[in-house]
Amino acid sequence: MCETQRSGLSEVIDLLHIDLEDDVEDKRAGREDTACSRNVLRKQRNWERQLAARKSRRKEEKRRRRFNRLQEFDSDSDHTQLSKRVQKAITKERLAESQSTGLRLCVDLSMTDFMSDKEISRLAGQLRRLYGSNKRATHPFRLILTDLREDSRLYRECVRMNDGFLNYLMEITEQSCLDLFPAETVVYLTPDAEEALETLDADRVYVLGGLVDESIQKKLSLSRAGELSVRTARLPIDEFMVKKNNSKNFHSKILAVNQVFDILLTFCETSSWTHALQAWFPASKGYTIPAGDSAPLPAAAQPQGDD
Ligand SMILES: C[S@@+](CC[C@H](N)C(=O)[O-])C[C@H]1O[C@@H](n2cnc3c(N)ncnc32)[C@H](O)[C@@H]1O
Repeated sequence: MCETQRSGLSEVIDLLHIDLEDDVEDKRAGREDTACSRNVLRKQRNWERQLAARKSRRKEEKRRRRFNRLQEFDSDSDHTQLSKRVQKAITKERLAESQSTGLRLCVDLSMTDFMSDKEISRLAGQLRRLYGSNKRATHPFRLILTDLREDSRLYRECVRMNDGFLNYLMEITEQSCLDLFPAETVVYLTPDAEEALETLDADRVYVLGGLVDESIQKKLSLSRAGELSVRTARLPIDEFMVKKNNSKNFHSKILAVNQVFDILLTFCETSSWTHALQAWFPASKGYTIPAGDSAPLPAAAQPQGDD
């Protein structure tokens, strides 16, 4: 082999050597890369696990604290021990919780076109009382004002008359109850229904007709329920009350929305129609609980109303 051939061969060997070293180097780097990315992945997964655990611990702790506060609130029956600020916070918490766990009740405000300005004002007042009762309740309802347009007379009147109306913890929507819930779950409450309400069920959605009877318009809520093709029910007045003699021989089973709502709230808390009707059915309507059936009123129930 001549000198030129020898030097050519050694260059080729050098090149091969370099290639081989590069290859080994690449493989080592590749292994390190994989090990490194596996480490990163493991760390990331660990971190995510820790984060999730911390989040669920915090959630659990929050739930426990809320539970303790509510317990404390319930055991202090006159609530004298709690500052106004704490009471306000508890009320807010309960209302917020009712948005996911409370019994569902819609007030159907689709019929306000039939009402005079005076009736609209009275309805705005009744909605304020209804919301006030829900705020004071131990187990508030999830309230939804349906079919309420921002450009309606009622909306304007509610904003004008009811302090903080726009911050009420309830839903206000232009949609109807059937846009929100399946028809088979809806029970429209109307004094003209055949069927009496037996109990309140978490799977159902109860609807009150947003009406005021200055110029008594009969069976409006019954025909609205007919339009919607939903079940109807009346308060079980015939089942639990009797007519009371009065000088005008006046007897009416038609109540204001806030009065019906107070009865529903008390039924929820006591599971007793006798209690609920006795506490809230206005004496002026000419019905009473038969003497032998009357029960001691729960402390919270103080009859008042808007006849
Ligand atoms: C003042 S009342 C309206 C009465 C009206 N004339 C009507 O067409 O039903 C307002 C709403 O309260 C509820 N309500 C009043 N009395 C009731 C009763 N005895 N049973 C069931 N719901 C009642 C109904 O939802 C009703 O639409």
